[in-house]
Amino acid sequence: MEEFDSIIGMALAEEPLGRNELEVLLRADAGQAQLLFQAARSMRARCTGNLIYLRGLIEISNVCTRDCLYCGIRRSNFKAHRYTLDEDGIAAAARRAARLGYGSAVLQAGERRDESWVEMIGRAVRRIAAENGPDFGITLSLGGQSEETYRRWKAAGAHRYLLRIEEASPRLFAAVHPAGYSIAERRRALTALRKTGYQVGTGVMSALPGQNETDLAEDLLFFKSIDADMIGMGPYIPHPDTPLAREAGGWNPEKALFTGLKMIAVCRLLLRDVNIASTTALQSLSPDGRALGLQAGANVIMPNIGPDERKRDYLLYAGKPVTDEGTEAARKALESEALAAGAEIARGISGDPRHYLERLKQPGGDAELIHKKP
Ligand code: 5AD
Repeated sequence: MEEFDSIIGMALAEEPLGRNELEVLLRADAGQAQLLFQAARSMRARCTGNLIYLRGLIEISNVCTRDCLYCGIRRSNFKAHRYTLDEDGIAAAARRAARLGYGSAVLQAGERRDESWVEMIGRAVRRIAAENGPDFGITLSLGGQSEETYRRWKAAGAHRYLLRIEEASPRLFAAVHPAGYSIAERRRALTALRKTGYQVGTGVMSALPGQNETDLAEDLLFFKSIDADMIGMGPYIPHPDTPLAREAGGWNPEKALFTGLKMIAVCRLLLRDVNIASTTALQSLSPDGRALGLQAGANVIMPNIGPDERKRDYLLYAGKPVTDEGTEAARKALESEALAAGAEIARGISGDPRHYLERLKQPGGDAELIHKKP
């Protein structure tokens, strides 16, 4: 048997996959990728219940104190038009998500650590929890914070947190962040999130300048090493008003999309029962990018349901879609995408990752950690 086929066999038999095996899978050509995606779909069916969970994504502010070299809302992009939703705006968007049967919302913004921000988020989370009931999931994606801040937001009612490591390789991390940004700090923040009892999500960008399959395999092994519950990954897409765009000469959209899809599939085979998002970046590269993500083994979609007039300003990268996703028609479209990928859209349930639920059952798994609303 060919090496590739035999590694797919190992993965399906749930034998351990090391860096070499992961690299071979990540190097799949177009033909091999079909086998890879099929295996990932069958692993999803086996290990997640085969439901696709929707999370209403609310981009609450594009103000950011960070200056990441790839990101369109970096502090020194003076062309970005800055906005911040108020508490009423955030609460209204969350109600919209609940009304559409999305079961949970994700509050995402640039990174701010000042007290008035920390306070405002606490109030907004408390209000969303009160207005939508104890079963409505509240996820935060608000960057690196102190353990104390994570605790306050958790006490307010948040129970999931997404914090990408961006890239596990110190070399690449340093290449795409300004001097002084520390990967160790990100790791500490992820540890603090786990300690405070969140369901922890992380992820990386693929298709970065200078990144190879070894780096991507290391990223996947990093997810495993921190026992992540949720993964959100997407291909890097150059934004013209950022320094990294000048180094992205060899970048091409087809290749970036293909790499992004392979990362989802290999991640599914390695981590099995985690939640994996089919992200907006895939959709930006192709109108059916998100559907392709489901076909590669993802089980979460985060439709953007914030106010339309703001989507144009939350431009992390070029070509980010600004369509209204908070409608019945949009939900119906997602349902057909899920069916085409051999799965089904869940309605009105928050969709905890099975990985997290299993972890709680293990010796030392703390039942206290189960999300409890105040
Ligand atoms: N291309 C793709 N993803 C990006 N992000 C930021 N800028 C880009 C870009 N140019 C991702 C980062 C961040 C998330 C919110 O968006 O991974 O964590």
